[in-house]
Amino acid sequence: MEYVTLGRTGLRVSVAGLGCGGFSRLGLGTGKSEAEAVALIREALDLGINLLDTAAVYGTETVVGEAIKSVPRDRVVIATKAWIPRSEGRSAADRAVASLDNSLRQLGTDYIDIFQLHGVSPRTYDRAIDVIAPALLKEREKGKLKHLGVTETGSSDPEHAMVQRAVEDGVWDVVMVAFHMMHQNARTEVFPRTMANRVGTLLMFAVRNIFSRPERLAAALRELTASGQLPHWLADAPNPLGFLVHEGGASTVTEAAYRFVRHEPGVDVVLFGTGDRAHLRANIASLLAPPLPLADRQTLAQLFGRLVGVGLDPPYSMPGFSLP
Ligand SMILES: NC(=O)c1ccc[n+]([C@@H]2O[C@H](COP(=O)([O-])OP(=O)(O)OC[C@H]3O[C@@H](n4cnc5c(N)ncnc54)[C@H](OP(=O)(O)O)[C@@H]3O)[C@@H](O)[C@H]2O)c1
Repeated sequence: MEYVTLGRTGLRVSVAGLGCGGFSRLGLGTGKSEAEAVALIREALDLGINLLDTAAVYGTETVVGEAIKSVPRDRVVIATKAWIPRSEGRSAADRAVASLDNSLRQLGTDYIDIFQLHGVSPRTYDRAIDVIAPALLKEREKGKLKHLGVTETGSSDPEHAMVQRAVEDGVWDVVMVAFHMMHQNARTEVFPRTMANRVGTLLMFAVRNIFSRPERLAAALRELTASGQLPHWLADAPNPLGFLVHEGGASTVTEAAYRFVRHEPGVDVVLFGTGDRAHLRANIASLLAPPLPLADRQTLAQLFGRLVGVGLDPPYSMPGFSLP
């Protein structure tokens, strides 16, 4: 495993982080048992992953708590999140503190390394910074959390408007950002500012559905060619991203997707979600592999560099917000 310093938090974290949400939810989302999820986390830790990203709404905090029981607490970096519905006004602060206390109980720990507000939209950001953050900073003084973070919504904020504000406010030490082969705008819109302000970054959406299910990629390409955003040959090709798979390049499109994000300047930790132990090992190997060949990166930039908001589909929807 390779380790980096997560911005101004000073935390040493693995470049691969285990996402405990997404479609897989450590396998719980696809019918696996809690025991299998615990075993998957333990294997990830054995392979050198030390950052686990969960959330109150994922239903995986207790599983994470069980898996880390036998691990010295300072060997693992726990990131979790509170989701505060838009309807909560000033009581949002109380709700966030209650969520923090509940996460501590579920995880069976005394402190959270990175406590994040989950899926904050541009519309709810004022409340996050003015109402919720001050309350959480008081909890930080009590030692319940070490660093505050914020995650963007992805699908409803593809231009990263919320994170662009958050990185300048000095409160959020970590931001979670969407970036992948067909949604590359964080390169210019986010990463220069996170690097300048030493805000740590957790990368989400590297693969999601679009690069793990060929039919989802095909559907996206049909839409994008129909709207004139991509050349028609891409939708007609039997294996449209096949140009990435070759001797000296990636061996699968999924591998290419993880390698693409991993080496982007400004990306600290690449989160991936899986309930499959073979995928766990493959993804770590991908994230430790060299950058994609220059010619492939140039083709990806030329073909997809102007696309925004592709492939950010959530697994399910809640009124006014999509998770996780
Ligand atoms: N707004 C937010 O706060 C937010 C939003 C999205 C995500 N996140 C965080 O980011 C994490 C990562 O997102 P994600 O879970 O969607 O991860 P991802 O790595 O982008 O995509 C995971 C999907 O790809 C599949 N997959 C993984 N490795 C594969 C492989 N080697 N070959 C084929 N398919 C593979 C998984 O299925 P298998 O189970 O079959 O491997 C799963 O369906 C989440 O778990 C969560 O912690 C946060």
